[in-house]
Amino acid sequence: MTATINAKNNPKLAFPQGIKRYGLPGIFNLIFRPLPTLEAYRNCYGDIYYSPSFAGFPSLIVIGNVEGVETLFTADTELFDSASSNTAFQPLLGNQSILQLDGEPHKKRRKLLMPSFHGQQLQNYGEIIANITQSVISEWQKDDVISMREVAQEITLSVILKAVFGISQGDNYQPLKQQLSRYLDLFNSPVYTSTLFLPALQKNWGRWSPWGNFVYQRDKVYQLLSQEIDKRKTETQGEDILSLLLSAIDEQGEHLTKNEVMSELMTLLFAGHETTASALAWAFYWLHYHPQFYHNIKDELDTINVDTDPMEIAKLPYLSAVVSETLRIYPVALFTFSRTLKTSWEFMGYSLEKGISLAPCIYLVHHHPDIYPNPKEFKPERFLERQFSPYEFIPFGGSNRRCIGYALALYEMKLVLATVLKQVNLKLVNSQPISPVRRGFTTSPKGGVKMQVV
Ligand code: HEM
Repeated sequence: MTATINAKNNPKLAFPQGIKRYGLPGIFNLIFRPLPTLEAYRNCYGDIYYSPSFAGFPSLIVIGNVEGVETLFTADTELFDSASSNTAFQPLLGNQSILQLDGEPHKKRRKLLMPSFHGQQLQNYGEIIANITQSVISEWQKDDVISMREVAQEITLSVILKAVFGISQGDNYQPLKQQLSRYLDLFNSPVYTSTLFLPALQKNWGRWSPWGNFVYQRDKVYQLLSQEIDKRKTETQGEDILSLLLSAIDEQGEHLTKNEVMSELMTLLFAGHETTASALAWAFYWLHYHPQFYHNIKDELDTINVDTDPMEIAKLPYLSAVVSETLRIYPVALFTFSRTLKTSWEFMGYSLEKGISLAPCIYLVHHHPDIYPNPKEFKPERFLERQFSPYEFIPFGGSNRRCIGYALALYEMKLVLATVLKQVNLKLVNSQPISPVRRGFTTSPKGGVKMQVV
């Protein structure tokens, strides 16, 4: 059982207990062994603890229980900012995207982007997702060995480029796809991942140094995006995100700058495919690691045809439960963004000063034994037996910063799984359990989940 500090019963606790300072081993553990490290801290300090500043992240109060998450997510959003604590993402995503906005400008940007990920627009993506998946699996031959992480990335990247950005088989499509994969695959290497977390290593000593190569690959992505933006400025605007960003006008009648558009594109491209690709690879792994879940899902997929409406496929209960359990057990993002206090605040009996940040730890909440008994067991049935509140199940965060693309991510995961499982038989190449590893700021299955077509 975890040791939950209940400050309300202990008036002497004015500030949560926690870690005094991360030495080198602490930093190393947080980067390379994040899950056992987070669990060890919870066992030592309780569900709510203090974490000193680490790499580019601010010092913060880690929230690992439902009550804390509910208190934070239902509080007045005017109490907090997030942009100032999101600076660690800047080298990767640029410095002028939604992540760096707060208050009214943040609300406006969400309002601009949101419709592209919901309602009719989302429905329109169904056919594109199924077609892209179909064309990927049509190339598979019996006995081929494939990395599900790579396949999933190929699919999710094509979906975001085609469906969301409206970039189709034109001049820039293939080069952009290849260059983005090359850029993001750098983070399969622990060396590159470390540079993201340790600003001291962010030194450009030329193309052959890790940071130098990172900057070089990133600039190549920027170049291609910049060409695409210039090209699209001269074309008729469609309904895709790039068109929306190019035509948006603020109160002063100004368009977004090219830098702002570029930064937003990078953020959406990254957030929109990297996360979903890792989650999909995990889903394939879990289903094939446990034959009974595979049989259950196959039985459910027998009730649909290849031409069943994608929206109907997305409602299948067992498929939905598998997707939820996949996102619960190893959440791709271990934390939500931090919320930094603009004023002092009483939180769960603690007295917090202006300037301190708070961040729900998605992994700790999803592994809280009070909510999820036997949390380390993969068990989709949990999601059939009961409904979890938006403070108990938080793979996409919550409140005013809740993931913009959550509906697309869920829809995409379900359609890709259904399309592949309905038509291809796969088996895991290795029967050993797969553990999560860092891939930049996210976590991903170690080795990419190698499977064979049977
Ligand atoms: C399985 C897939 C995904 C996961 C697990 C995920 C997770 C998250 C999380 C945890 C946050 C922070 C929320 C908070 O602080 O409360 C977030 C924010 C965000 N996500 Fe996702 N995401 C996924 C897919 C997507 C997709 C498909 C898109 C768009 C194409 C997207 C775009 C964003 C954006 C723009 C934000 C920032 C929102 C803001 O600052 O207001 N994500 N996501």
